[in-house]
Amino acid sequence: MTSVLTSGTVSTDTGNASPAAISAVGLAKSYGDKVVLDGIDLRIPEGTVFALLGPNGAGKTTTVQILSTLIPADAGAAQVAGYDLATAPDGVRGAVGVTGQFAAVDNLLTAEENLLLMADLQHLPRREGRRRAAQLLDRFDLTEVARKPAVTFSGGMRRKLDLAMTLVGEPRVIFLDEPTTGLDPRSRRTMWELIRDLVERDRVTVFLTTQYLDEADQLADRIALLDHGKLIAEGTAEELKRLIPGGHLRLRFADASQLDAAAALFTASAREDEALALRIPGEASIAALRTVLDTLDGAAVRAESLTVHTPDLDDVFLTLTGRQERA
Ligand SMILES: Nc1ncnc2c1ncn2[C@@H]1O[C@H](COP(=O)(O)OP(=O)(O)OP(=O)(O)O)[C@@H](O)[C@H]1O
Ligand SMILES: [Mg+2]
Repeated sequence: MTSVLTSGTVSTDTGNASPAAISAVGLAKSYGDKVVLDGIDLRIPEGTVFALLGPNGAGKTTTVQILSTLIPADAGAAQVAGYDLATAPDGVRGAVGVTGQFAAVDNLLTAEENLLLMADLQHLPRREGRRRAAQLLDRFDLTEVARKPAVTFSGGMRRKLDLAMTLVGEPRVIFLDEPTTGLDPRSRRTMWELIRDLVERDRVTVFLTTQYLDEADQLADRIALLDHGKLIAEGTAEELKRLIPGGHLRLRFADASQLDAAAALFTASAREDEALALRIPGEASIAALRTVLDTLDGAAVRAESLTVHTPDLDDVFLTLTGRQERA
C-alpha cells in the first residue's frame, strides 16, 4: 500500500482486488449559495467498514442521504451495491439499510412491533417477519424488553433497536450516521461489537459517519476526513497517523536537577517544569527509545518514568484541518 499526496488530498491506492460496494465521483451538493459537498470521490470495497469523519456541519449526513437516495446530488455519479444512483435508485434502496442520526424508532410501539413494522414495509411474509424479528431481538439482547414500548428505552437500547430495524431487510450495505453519539462508554462498546459482528458474520459493507476519532480508529478499515465539503485525507488509521509528526517520549524526573541535566542532553526537547517532565520529539521506535535511555545512562541521569506518545487521530484531524481551537 502506498500513500500519495496530491494537492492537499491524501489517497491510498487499494488496488482493484475486491469489488467496490460504494463508488462515487465528484459528488456535489449546495443549499442556496452554501456549498456543502464540493466534489467527493469514494471507493469502498465490499465487506469493509468505511468511516467518514468530520465536525458538525461538515456534510456527513448529506453524504449519507445522497448515497442512500434520500436526496439527489447536484453533480457527480455514484454506484451503490452495483446499482447506479441516478438510473437505478430502486435497486440501491433495495440493497441498503440506513440508520439515521436521529432514531427512526416509533416510541409508542414495542421493540417487537417496531421490527414487525419494518418487516411489513419490506413485504416479508408474516412468518418470515416474525422469525427475523425474534432473531434480531435475541442477537441484540432485546428479547427481555421485546414487549415493552420503546418510549421506556434508554438511548443505548433505542440505538440497538434502530440498528436491528435496519437489518430486517438484510441489506448488503449499511449506512450508520453517528451510531454512538450520546451513548455512554459501555453502550458504545456494545454498538461497536454489533457493528464488527455485522461485517464479520454477514459480510455487509458499513459506511459510518462519526465525530469520534477513536470510533473510526476502532471500527474502520479506511477513514476519510471531511472538512469544508472536501475529503482532505483518506487512508487506514495507521496511514493517517503517519502523516503527522507529534510522536514523543515523555520522561519524568524526581527533582529539578535531574530535569536540568536531561534537558541539557536533549536539545530539541521541551520542558514541563511543573511536572518535572521532558518531552523528546521523535518516532516511537525501540531504536529511538534505546538511544534516549543510553544517553541518560551515559550521563548518569535517572528518569522516574517514561511514557511513549504515538500521535492519534485527534492529532491528525487537528493538524490537517488546522482547527487547533477545537482542542
Ligand atoms: N435541507 C437543508 N437546507 C439547508 N441547509 C442544509 C440542509 N441540510 C443540511 N444543510 C446544511 O448543510 C451543512 C451540512 O449538514 P450535514 O447535516 O450534512 O452535516 P453533518 O456533517 O452531518 O453535521 P452533524 O455532525 O452536526 O450531524 C450544514 O451547514 C447544514 O446546515
Ligand atoms: Mg449529521
